[in-house]
Amino acid sequence: MASITIRGLDDALKTRLRLRAARSGRSMEDEARTILRAAAADDVRSMAEPAPVARAGATPPLDAGPSGRRILLIIGGGIAAYKSLDLIRRLKERGATVRCILTAAAREFITPLSVGALSGERVFTDLFDPASELDVGHIRLARGTDLVVVAPATADLMAKMAGGHADDLATAVLLATDRRVLIAPAMNPRMWGHAATRRNLTQLAADRIAVVGPGTGEMAEPGEAGIGRMAEPLEIVAAAEALLATSPDHRVERSLRGRRLLVTSGPTQEPIDPVRYIANRSSGKQGHAIAAAAAAAGAEVILVCGPVHIPDPLGVTAVKVETAREMRDAVERALPVDCAVFAAAVADWRLAAPGREKIKKSKGAAPTLRLVENPDILAEVAHRKAKRPRLVIGFAAETEKVVAHAKDKLKRKGCDWILANDVSAETGIMGGDRNRVHLITAEGVESWPPQSKDEVARALVERIAAALKASGS
Ligand SMILES: Cc1cc2nc3c(=O)[nH]c(=O)nc-3n(C[C@H](O)[C@H](O)[C@H](O)COP(=O)(O)O)c2cc1C
Repeated sequence: MASITIRGLDDALKTRLRLRAARSGRSMEDEARTILRAAAADDVRSMAEPAPVARAGATPPLDAGPSGRRILLIIGGGIAAYKSLDLIRRLKERGATVRCILTAAAREFITPLSVGALSGERVFTDLFDPASELDVGHIRLARGTDLVVVAPATADLMAKMAGGHADDLATAVLLATDRRVLIAPAMNPRMWGHAATRRNLTQLAADRIAVVGPGTGEMAEPGEAGIGRMAEPLEIVAAAEALLATSPDHRVERSLRGRRLLVTSGPTQEPIDPVRYIANRSSGKQGHAIAAAAAAAGAEVILVCGPVHIPDPLGVTAVKVETAREMRDAVERALPVDCAVFAAAVADWRLAAPGREKIKKSKGAAPTLRLVENPDILAEVAHRKAKRPRLVIGFAAETEKVVAHAKDKLKRKGCDWILANDVSAETGIMGGDRNRVHLITAEGVESWPPQSKDEVARALVERIAAALKASGS
């Protein structure tokens, strides 16, 4: 194998390469080789992280993540700063893009390197940074976001915000932003109870700053307890979500604005008795990605999902169900919609009479489970006379003759489009992050290249937007 010499990379790029190599347990040379190999196989998009060189210099616009939500996270100098690392992860797994500013004091607690590695974005620290201020970066940071979150919000940051100070990057951005701001205070109970902090809090409330927490509990200082613990990352996510839902939409891409979409996702679970059930291996990743992409494109999205282990995407209304019949009821309640995408893997059968009590083992006599058919939600909606969505899209998960079976399904179910994929174990599609789909319409079959489920979702959403537009309403 040809040897590789790593020269001519700037320090930031070397650091990223080192981090990637450490994460994958490869040498830097092997990591570089892996990237080159992937590029040669035209598969680089799934492998490479955002190019750091392109991100250095002037403040680039923040691309929206799968959910289309851009969050600017300001991390203050408190012990709770370590929890912000988890907050970044939680926001990102909900499809948000997270860009971070660290105050000088925050850098005493956590490093820009760990924040950058987790957020996958350049980290900002200095107001007087000649590179990012080339284009008045602090104003771009303040505007190019949908929500500003300050976590932990120190007593000092709260005082500066209440007083309108702007003597570092964090406070300058907070003064320059016209976006909603959410703070998660974290401090010693005496600092929280001090008359000055109380005054500042009143002022911040008058300035429409939203607050989450603090909670009560043990402090980092030995023997100290009381109110002042920063809200947990998931509480902050929930508060951010609630604010985003009521904030004006600042996103540029809005091809589905004014449209209402229904997406089903995940498996269903059909009870055998109170402790056992019939289910399938659907992870919900593709359906959730479609819901996120549709919300990012400005649609009002109702996501009806079976039991999954992934979080709800930001900006969608999630309705949780377990069985096929519950899913059908939730779908019925969500109508009318402009478009319905049925990505859930609904169990075809359920038990005719699930046990009320746990079925007991009896020697030599295995129970006979009698199955009956579940409702066919896709066909029911596609054949509706009233409230039929203009576009009804089904998924066909096949393990053989994928396109032929999917064409047949399109006819049988009466839907407009079918996305067919091969879910044989060897494809790794079921539960995996990538997908290879064939779009089957009345006009024919289009085979899309293998791509991430997020990419499939974005491509599908573009097609939906175009089709709804073409249908003239
Ligand atoms: C070990 C240590 C822990 C601290 N924890 C907190 C804290 O939890 N909350 C707080 O408001 N200040 C805390 N401080 C004080 C802040 O770091 C200090 O007020 C600093 O100026 C805040 O700067 P910033 O608001 O720009 O991040 C702590 C200081 C130290 C040395």
